[in-house]
Amino acid sequence: DTLTVMKVCCIGAGYVGGPTCAVMALKCPDIQVTVVDRSSERIAQWNSEKLPIYEPGLDDVVKKCRNVNLFFSTDIETAIKEADLIFISVNTPTKNFGNGKGRAADLKYVESAARMIAEIAQSNKIVVEKSTVPVRAAESIMHILHANQRPGIRYDILSNPEFLAEGTAIEDLVHADRVLIGGEETPEGHKAVEKLSWIYEHWIPKKNILTTNTWSSELSKLAANAFLAQRISSINSLSAVCEATGADVSEVARAVGLDSRIGAKFLQASVGFGGSCFQKDILNLVYICEGLNLPEVAAYWQQVIDMNEYQKSRFSQKIIESLFNTVSDKRISIFGFAFKKNTGDTRETPAITVCKTLLEEGAKLDIYDPKVEPEQIIDDLTHPCVTESPENVKKAVQIHSDPYSAVRGTHAIVLCTEWDEFVTLDYKRIYQSMMKPAYIFDGRKILDHENLQQIGFHVQTIGKRY
Ligand code: NAD
Ligand code: UGA
Repeated sequence: DTLTVMKVCCIGAGYVGGPTCAVMALKCPDIQVTVVDRSSERIAQWNSEKLPIYEPGLDDVVKKCRNVNLFFSTDIETAIKEADLIFISVNTPTKNFGNGKGRAADLKYVESAARMIAEIAQSNKIVVEKSTVPVRAAESIMHILHANQRPGIRYDILSNPEFLAEGTAIEDLVHADRVLIGGEETPEGHKAVEKLSWIYEHWIPKKNILTTNTWSSELSKLAANAFLAQRISSINSLSAVCEATGADVSEVARAVGLDSRIGAKFLQASVGFGGSCFQKDILNLVYICEGLNLPEVAAYWQQVIDMNEYQKSRFSQKIIESLFNTVSDKRISIFGFAFKKNTGDTRETPAITVCKTLLEEGAKLDIYDPKVEPEQIIDDLTHPCVTESPENVKKAVQIHSDPYSAVRGTHAIVLCTEWDEFVTLDYKRIYQSMMKPAYIFDGRKILDHENLQQIGFHVQTIGKRY
């Protein structure tokens, strides 16, 4: 009975807080889960028919649990007061000012969540750091809580990083490879770990629930993202060698990945990785290493970021060079703007780099993405703005709700996101409505290039020379 957690609160109703709590509510009918956010707009969306984020399968889970044992609320105070266990799942962006600008993680939202808890709590709480944070961040949370502690209230702080990927969040949460829980190595710490573990044991086999000390848990999250991104930068670096030599990066990736020690996953060469976390977390790791006086380690991981920047700009330059070194006033279709398929998220999407480079060169863009909101695309291309003024950018960009309308009269298609629907489009019809010579730049290597060439397209891609 001491192992029973009845009420859970999650601060932060974002890409992590929303899906994580929805799955938790689905799998734990005996637990009441309340997700709170200070953005009333976000909470209203979670309570509406159109959820604030697109994730395959999410709608169903939310519909089943919402207002049964899953609640979305702006009443942070009540949710904190009533909860036995509180997840902090707020954003931890890269700092854009002051010390560590452009690299360190900005912990102001984590800190404000901790301060709210300290102010409001009237009973013991287990506080779980779900956000991705620097190593030893739990220490800061502990300091804040303890410095503001009411007499008789006990706090236990746990680290429980999230490993879900966008576009597959529900699947990743339901069938997690592992759940990681870090806690203090004291009897009370162990008890807190057990309580959180008990929640996950509702649907995750116990052998897949890993417990470590707090600092290992925090570092493992940064390490996992650094390793994943490193694989992409490694294969992308070789894609440049392939283009220069006539090797084919897909063949290389397959040959290398069949070695079971290496494995086949995450070896897909691309226009570059995007998303809100890889770059942010590696920059944070680099910053931490520098602070620890480990410059060689910092330089090692920095290369993963540098290679990704190189890949994005290399692909953009290739487009311009192929189009006779000028795209000024040429219309170019952009297929896909999200940072990967099956999400409407555009944070750090390589499409932004590609589009901005083309806009700076004077191109006109016709953009189509099945899930990204038009306002989001305009916002991404105007904040911060390229050399052009926001007004000029808006004039140069047209957003379409249909791929066939996005290609009418354009000189080239640039594929930035690997949406399945791009594979099965009628490319004969598309070719007919485009300017000639018609170009396709496949930044994701998903199209049938031979077929496209037969139709008459000039095809360029990553890691293969035509
Ligand atoms: P997000 O920006 O989508 O959501 C964060 C939410 O927290 C926002 O809605 C914001 O309004 C809210 N918030 C911030 N401060 C608050 C406060 N003091 N009180 C109440 N609400 C507050 O971010 P996200 O993508 O869900 O990421 C959250 C964390 O999880 C980050 O640390 C990220 O690195 C990590 N993470 C993200 C992913 C992912 O796929 N997006 C995966 C694993 C880990
Ligand atoms: C990533 C990790 O996969 C998650 O485990 C982690 O929890 C999450 O970051 C996080 O901490 O936020 P996510 O960024 O949502 O998840 O998506 P990924 O599938 O990792 O893709 C990231 C980027 O890499 C995308 O732009 C994708 O297109 C690109 N990518 C991925 C490649 O270019 N090649 C590949 O082989 C794989």
